[in-house]
Amino acid sequence: MDTPLAPPHVIVFPLAAQGHVNSMLKLAELLAYSGLRITFINSEYIHHRLLRHANIQARFTAFPDFRFKIISDGLPLDHPRSSDHFMTIFKYVKSITKQLLEELVSAPDRPVTCIIADGILTFTIDFAGDLGVPVIAFRTISAGSFWACFCIPRMIESGDLPIKGDEDMDRVVTSVLGMEDILRCRDLPSFCRVADLSDWTLQYVTTQTLQTTRARALILNSFDRLEGPTISQIRTRFPNLYTIGPLHSHHKSRLSSSSLPSPPPPSPASNSIWEVDRSCISWLDKQPPKSVIYVSFGSITTLNRQDFTEFWYGLVNSGRRFLWVVRPDSLAEGGSSAVPEELREAVAERGCVVGWAPQEEVLHHGAVAAFLTHSGWNSTLESVVAGKPMVCWPFFADQQINSRLVSHAWKVGLDMKDVCDREVVERMVNGVMGERQEEFAAAAGDLARMAREATSEGGSSWGNLDRLIEDIRSMKP
Ligand code: UDX
Repeated sequence: MDTPLAPPHVIVFPLAAQGHVNSMLKLAELLAYSGLRITFINSEYIHHRLLRHANIQARFTAFPDFRFKIISDGLPLDHPRSSDHFMTIFKYVKSITKQLLEELVSAPDRPVTCIIADGILTFTIDFAGDLGVPVIAFRTISAGSFWACFCIPRMIESGDLPIKGDEDMDRVVTSVLGMEDILRCRDLPSFCRVADLSDWTLQYVTTQTLQTTRARALILNSFDRLEGPTISQIRTRFPNLYTIGPLHSHHKSRLSSSSLPSPPPPSPASNSIWEVDRSCISWLDKQPPKSVIYVSFGSITTLNRQDFTEFWYGLVNSGRRFLWVVRPDSLAEGGSSAVPEELREAVAERGCVVGWAPQEEVLHHGAVAAFLTHSGWNSTLESVVAGKPMVCWPFFADQQINSRLVSHAWKVGLDMKDVCDREVVERMVNGVMGERQEEFAAAAGDLARMAREATSEGGSSWGNLDRLIEDIRSMKP
């Protein structure tokens, strides 16, 4: 009798940061559902937290061919990890990648078919190339953010960059093709806000993004109808492009598809690295339908004391009910995140504050009308899928573009960008919850339907994921 052929073996290699691990683990899970053998490289810090808070042990035992390879991220386990530590982690991971890949690729029982590497770990392309293993790049940001970074040289050539000070921020940017109608200087990724074009971060982001063309293919967690014109532009430079998002929605439709083996594997939980406080769900259960604004600024952003206070007042003064996620490390100066004394009564009456929420569940809750978000890409997609309008307070990097997509491309919310005071917070919250509630809710509902269609059988992302799997199956280990 013939020995059955071993399934293709894919190494999935994200940058060790929650936002990146989150979506890449979802992709890895989908590939495992399709019968591929997976080795997922995870940092010890994130892995321990996923074990504790996201039940990954139970989830992944459903796949006997799924393994985690645990590495250090270069920081002690008890060290805080915020956006400030990004470069430390990046440099450390770069220093160990060659040896790590050599070790994985030389294991005789698990020949490697390809590597799906985080698109910002482009050094992987060289190391894997030396070993004869193809690399597919996965950028975990929006197509728009990726494309804007790709267009930085063009922006410089055309004079769109550098930005000439604060008075230049509202100038329209014309050199990011596919986004000419929506981008102003203030909507460009935050690294573009520099007077000196030799700025290290700007140079670094540009180089990394251009390097992505050397990968065999590019994966984006977006879908064709969400960012159509931009995706068309990206295709001109990346013919082998897989737009397969929103991954978490995809997940749900694949699980309920009749084409999956029966019984289906357990439903995937969110990839949370913090302890979820479910008391907010009991609180939401007691609120009237569509009466609450959910407020969360993601897993790594920190607020300064002044903005924090403005949010407290803005939320209370809006008169709306709110659920706010205040992580223990939410304050930049480390100070106390306590409610200002004179607001305590109002907060107790109509507010709920937790350290970490089950965000996807919260966004789908009937009591939640809108989302005040920092516009991280995962949060944006989760809100899109849940059909919730947004108020955006972007902090850095890709968030500036995402918030502009929300307000001006999709028209499903308002963008506070660069101005944080209590009147603005109050006005924006009442905009999405009051005056323009119906308009935004209708547009958000349409977008949610498109997301569902894209990730259902016959949809664009569904088809592209199948194509990706076929492509991997056609590669020889
Ligand atoms: C980072 C960057 O900041 C972001 O700009 C980039 O797009 C992705 O990487 P992060 O800031 O954590 O990510 O934001 P985001 O991408 O929105 O991810 C946050 C995740 O944490 C979401 O999946 C969200 O569901 C989850 N979350 C957040 C919770 O589960 N509970 C919470 O209380 C808050």
